[in-house]
Amino acid sequence: MKRIFYLRLLLVALFCLGTALILGLLPALFDTVLPVAGPPAPAAPAARETPVAQKDLPPVSSPVPSAPEGPASTEKAPPSAPEAPVSSREPEPPSSTPEVPAGPVTPPKAGEEWAVRLVNWENPLPMDYEPAYEVVQNRFVMDSRAAPAARRMIADAWAQGVTLVVNSAYRPYSAQQRVYDAQYQEYLAQGYSQQDARLLTESYVAVPGHSEHQLGLAMDISAVDDGKGSEDWLSIHAPDYGFILRYPADKTEVTRTAYESWHYRYVGTPIAREITDRGLCLEEYLELLEVS
Ligand code: DAL
Ligand code: ZN
Repeated sequence: MKRIFYLRLLLVALFCLGTALILGLLPALFDTVLPVAGPPAPAAPAARETPVAQKDLPPVSSPVPSAPEGPASTEKAPPSAPEAPVSSREPEPPSSTPEVPAGPVTPPKAGEEWAVRLVNWENPLPMDYEPAYEVVQNRFVMDSRAAPAARRMIADAWAQGVTLVVNSAYRPYSAQQRVYDAQYQEYLAQGYSQQDARLLTESYVAVPGHSEHQLGLAMDISAVDDGKGSEDWLSIHAPDYGFILRYPADKTEVTRTAYESWHYRYVGTPIAREITDRGLCLEEYLELLEVS
C-alpha cells in the first residue's frame, strides 16, 4: 500500500516537473536559438549627405586668429588624377585656344590697383609676402581688403539656401611648399617620372612664391551639391562680389594652369563682372588694360 502511495507521489512530481519544463524553460531555451517573431527592426537612418556639423555652421565664424593655422588646408586635389602608372605617358598638355576679345576695359579705381595684382608663373611674390588678413570662414583667412566681400558672398548664399564651403584661402609660402610637395609625391607614387610628376603638379599647384593663395586674394570654395543646382551658384554670382573663376577651362594656355572650378580670385567689382561677361582671364584683362 505504502509502495503504491510513493509511486503515485513520484508520478505527480514527474508530471509537475514536466509541466514546469514545457511552460517555463522551453521558451527561454528557444529564445536563445530561434529568431524572435515580430516586426522588423526599423532601418537605420540614411546617412546625411552633409554632416550636421557642417550644415549647421553659421556661414562666418570666430574672431580673427593671431596667425593662420599652418597649411591653410590643402589645395583641392585635381579632379581626376591620371589613372595608371605609365611612366612613358605624356602628361596632358593644357588645351585651349586663347582668343583675346578686343576692346578697352574698365581700369581699377584709384587706390584699388592692388586688387588686380598679377601673380602667376612669371610674376612671383617675395617669399616673405604676407597680407593683413581676416577670417573668411572657420580658420581660413584672406587679405582684409577682400575678406568682407567673401564673407558677404557666403552669407548671402546661405540666406538663399546654398552652403559655400571654403577649403583653402591665404597660404604662406611654406604652406604652398607643403601642398606642392605632397602633390608631387602623389604623382611619383602613381609611377610618373620626376619630370612628368613635376609637370602634372604644376598644372594644378603653383610653384611656391607664384601662388595667388600667398597673395591672400584667392580661395578654394565650392557649393555643397544639394541636387538643386547649387553648384552653379558661384559661377553665376561670384562676380557680383568681386570674384572671378581664375582658371577657366578655355584659358589654360594663357594661365598655364588646368581648369579649377574651385579657385576664385578677388579682383573687385565691377571688374570681376566685366572679366566674366567678356570671357577674359586676368592675364588678358591686364593686357587689354595696358593698351586701353
Ligand atoms: N592652384 C593654384 C594654381 C595655386 O596653387 O595657386
Ligand atoms: Zn586654389
